Amino acid sequence: MIEEIYKRRSTRHFLQKPIAQEDLDEILTAATWAPSEKNEQPWKFIIIRGEERKAMVKCLKKGIMRNRKGDETAIFSKGYDKFIPSAIYTARVLEQAPVIVFVVNTKGMDYRQSYPSDKYMMELADIQSISAAIQNMCLEATARNIGSLWTCNIFFAYDELKEWLHADGEMVAAIALGYTDKEIKAMPRKPLAEVVEYRGEYPQPKDEVQEAAEAE
Ligand SMILES: Cc1cc2nc3c(=O)[nH]c(=O)nc-3n(C[C@H](O)[C@H](O)[C@H](O)COP(=O)(O)O)c2cc1C
Repeated sequence: MIEEIYKRRSTRHFLQKPIAQEDLDEILTAATWAPSEKNEQPWKFIIIRGEERKAMVKCLKKGIMRNRKGDETAIFSKGYDKFIPSAIYTARVLEQAPVIVFVVNTKGMDYRQSYPSDKYMMELADIQSISAAIQNMCLEATARNIGSLWTCNIFFAYDELKEWLHADGEMVAAIALGYTDKEIKAMPRKPLAEVVEYRGEYPQPKDEVQEAAEAE
């Protein structure tokens, strides 16, 4: 396996050590080398640093509280109580991260509107392209010993953050980046047998010894 794939961990403790612009440029360039449907590259990256982080976290906390109070207009107003502590925890992590990359789908659909199925399928394709870019970003960060956290708990404050970002498009995720001094244990993975289903016969490539034996 590619080393960085295994070495990447969701990092939830960050040091206040800044990330050099050169590293950030490489991480963002890695994102842009992701495949995308019809090479549309439907992504935009908004980098939040310094004092801007405070405004961001304020919006996030405001949104989380709106959900917690069960506000009718909140996206997760009903049945999501048990996820509120995790959202608050994520807000705390984002507060500490020296760099937060907001990833925007420039062609994204407004969640309040309903769309015909073709538009919905295009949205699925765009989200796949953007997810590939995010993963590239996390892997490039890993290669540079920079920790990352992919977050979607920002959706608890979708409206607040969207207004604050005032970017064209829809928010997909926020990625926290920074150095850490904590060892992070690997989260368990489901075994292949549980997640892979083979269908059809398929010949295995012969190894060199087998091939030589057959040639004799
Ligand atoms: C789409 C997505 C959204 C996630 N959102 C959050 C989040 O809001 N807060 C958080 O702490 N972790 C979040 N995570 C991290 C997952 O919890 C983590 O990837 C998973 O537990 C496996 O751990 P690992 O990344 O260390 O392998 C998210 C991951 C993905 C891919």
